[in-house]
Amino acid sequence: MKVKILLIGFGNVGKGFSSLLIEKKEMIRERFGIDPLIVGICTRSSGNIYDPSGIDLKRVLELKGENNFLSTPGISDRLTSVSADEIVNSGDFDVLAECTITEMGGKGSALSYIRSALTRGKSVITTNKGPIAFFYKDLQLLAETNGARLLFEGTVMAGTPLFSTSLLGLSGSSISGFEGVLNGTCNFILDLLQNGEEFEKALKQAQQRGYAEADPSMDIEGIDTALKAMILSQVLMNSPVPDIGAIEIKGISDLDPACLNRAREKNERIRLIAKGERMNGDSRISVKPTPLSPDHPLYYLPGAVNGIVLSSDVLGSICLTGAGAGSRETGFALLQDLLSLWGDNFRFSSSAFSSK
Ligand code: HSE
Repeated sequence: MKVKILLIGFGNVGKGFSSLLIEKKEMIRERFGIDPLIVGICTRSSGNIYDPSGIDLKRVLELKGENNFLSTPGISDRLTSVSADEIVNSGDFDVLAECTITEMGGKGSALSYIRSALTRGKSVITTNKGPIAFFYKDLQLLAETNGARLLFEGTVMAGTPLFSTSLLGLSGSSISGFEGVLNGTCNFILDLLQNGEEFEKALKQAQQRGYAEADPSMDIEGIDTALKAMILSQVLMNSPVPDIGAIEIKGISDLDPACLNRAREKNERIRLIAKGERMNGDSRISVKPTPLSPDHPLYYLPGAVNGIVLSSDVLGSICLTGAGAGSRETGFALLQDLLSLWGDNFRFSSSAFSSK
C-alpha cells in the first residue's frame, strides 16, 4: 500500500528521514506492507516541490546543499508556487511529516500546518518541540475529533524510543517524576569543556555535527531542555506546566570554569539536568547544570547521548539512554512514528525487526 507523505522542513531532520526512507525501502515494504512515497517537500528558503505521484527523493538528496537546489533540472518541473499552507490545506497526502525549526511559544507556522492537517483527518508525525510543548492537549483533542493521530517521538531524545517505550510499557503505572539529560548539544559541549576545550569551539563542533538548533541559544540557554521537560510532564505525567515562565531555567553559556574544575577534582561531571516532579495536579520543573558523581545513572553519557530516569510507582526508577540529537538519529524518530501509524499489526511480531 502506498502511503503519501508531505514533508515540511528539509533541514537536518528532514534529510535524515528521507535518507532512511531510501535506505530501508525494501525492509519497510517487506515487513510493514507499506510503500512510503514523498509527494511534497516544503522548504524555508528553496521553495516547494509537489507531485502527488511521488518525488525522486534520491535526486533531491543528491542536490541538497546546492543553492536553490529545487530549481535544478530533474526536480524543477515539480517546483510549485503554491504555498506550504495551501499544500497542507488541499494537497493529496496521507501523513504530514513536520520538521521545521522550533519557534518559542509554539505558535508559528508549524502549529498552523499541524492544525490544518489534523482538521483534515490527516495524521501528523513531528519532531517540532514548540507545538507539542505548548499545545499538546489541544492538538491531541483535534486529532481524536478528526480520527487522525499525532505522534512526536523525535521531540525528546531524538529517535531513542522514549514515548513508544513508556506509553506502551508503562501504561499501567504512574510516573511521578523524571530527571533527564535532554539536550545533545549541551551534553556534547560539556564533555568537551571538561576535557579543556573552549566554549565557542565546542559549540561550533556541535553545530557542524548537526546537533544544535538553528538558533543555538535555544540549546545553550536551556530553553530546548525546558521545552522537552514540558512535553514529558504533559505526556508522561499528565501534568500541564502553566507556562515556560514557571520553569527555573539556567543554561550552560556562562558556566563558571571554577565549577568545572571543582567537579573534575571530585571526579564528578557537570550535566544539564532537567528535573520534573508532579505536585498536586501541576508540575514543578527545573533545568540547570548539575554535578553528578560516578554512581549516578546519567554520569556516563558521552557526546550527544541523552538519558532519563523515570520514577514509577510500580517499578521504581527506570533509566533509558540513547542518541539525543543528529540528522539520522532524529530522522529515525519520524520513521518510527510512520511505522507505528501503518504498522501496528506488524509491530509486535518478531518479523518487525530486520535481520539485515
Ligand atoms: N538541538 C537539539 C539537541 C536537537 O541538541 O538536543 C534535538 O532535539
